[in-house]
Amino acid sequence: MHLVDKLEKNGILEKNEFIELLACEDAETIRYLKERAVKVRKEKYGEDVYIRGLIEISNFCKNDCFYCGIRKSNEKCDRYRLNKDEILHCCRIGYPLGFRTFVLQGGEDNHYSDNVLCDIIKTIKTEFPDCAVTLSLGERTKESYQKLFDAGADRYLLRHETANEKHYSKLHPQKMSYKNRFECLENLKSIGFQTGCGLMVGSPYQTIENIAEDLIYIAEFKPHMVGVGPFIPHSDTPFRNESAGSVELTCRILSIIRLMLPNVLLPSTTALGSLEEGGREKGILCGANVVMPNLSPENVRDKYALYNNKLSSGAEAAESLELLKKSINNIGYKIVTSRGDVKI
Ligand code: 5AD
Repeated sequence: MHLVDKLEKNGILEKNEFIELLACEDAETIRYLKERAVKVRKEKYGEDVYIRGLIEISNFCKNDCFYCGIRKSNEKCDRYRLNKDEILHCCRIGYPLGFRTFVLQGGEDNHYSDNVLCDIIKTIKTEFPDCAVTLSLGERTKESYQKLFDAGADRYLLRHETANEKHYSKLHPQKMSYKNRFECLENLKSIGFQTGCGLMVGSPYQTIENIAEDLIYIAEFKPHMVGVGPFIPHSDTPFRNESAGSVELTCRILSIIRLMLPNVLLPSTTALGSLEEGGREKGILCGANVVMPNLSPENVRDKYALYNNKLSSGAEAAESLELLKKSINNIGYKIVTSRGDVKI
């Protein structure tokens, strides 16, 4: 049986088969993979594209990930954090634009204690009861995750970054623990969050075999969301001279994940749009069904620089949603206003 058909039927492949599909240069196979991914996507979600308002609440981070522009050691990073009023203000701008999910994303910043966050979450959920709150705030204890969930948070994004322990140790300082990352993901899911993991494509030292391992992890973990974007170097990090990941490989991985997990919420990421003009649209055309426009206050957007040339204006900016709607319409899809929960 064709590998693509086998993937669609079983939701998983053997590691060597994943490697074959990832490395495949046969244009017909690649075309067929994308065609099946789009078919499956349309069966589940039609032409709908969900939007999430991304609020980057802090670029303070206690971690020192080698790839990331807001790592602790980057002294050139101009640090900021948003308070409750500023975050609420973003939601109040986003709601009338049509956003029904707010994603609070930030570095691992101790300022945001459980109490501070729970208060913010409860206030958002009280003022916007028809909205989902997604958190993307890194590793915390199980007790902390439970409190955030009890305060009303619906979803949590924590990219696993790489499922290979050796590779993990090449991307992160020794004091960051591979084991803890995966424990966090297990905890989030068992608490009841709609949980998202994910990876960077083309991160330094990553092999095709590593990506196959990521895919096997994703197939087994069965997340509700998967964030996949190309690695893009940042000039004030140890990886400044590394090359960026590929748009084509990222899109191929999106299609594979769509076939593995037909219902998954799959964003076409900012990194994909940043690396290549039209990258965001390419992601949608390969099976992605979510976009996350930037709803942060305009004066902090440049400061949340995870990598160089990160998009935050034009169709990437929440206030320019009309531009995004047009570009999504142009490729035959439509932006919808709904919470956009995962279909079971
Ligand atoms: N290039 C691409 N993605 C990056 N991230 C962090 N730094 C970079 C980079 N240089 C991603 C990580 C993180 C998410 C918030 O952003 O995967 O989990």
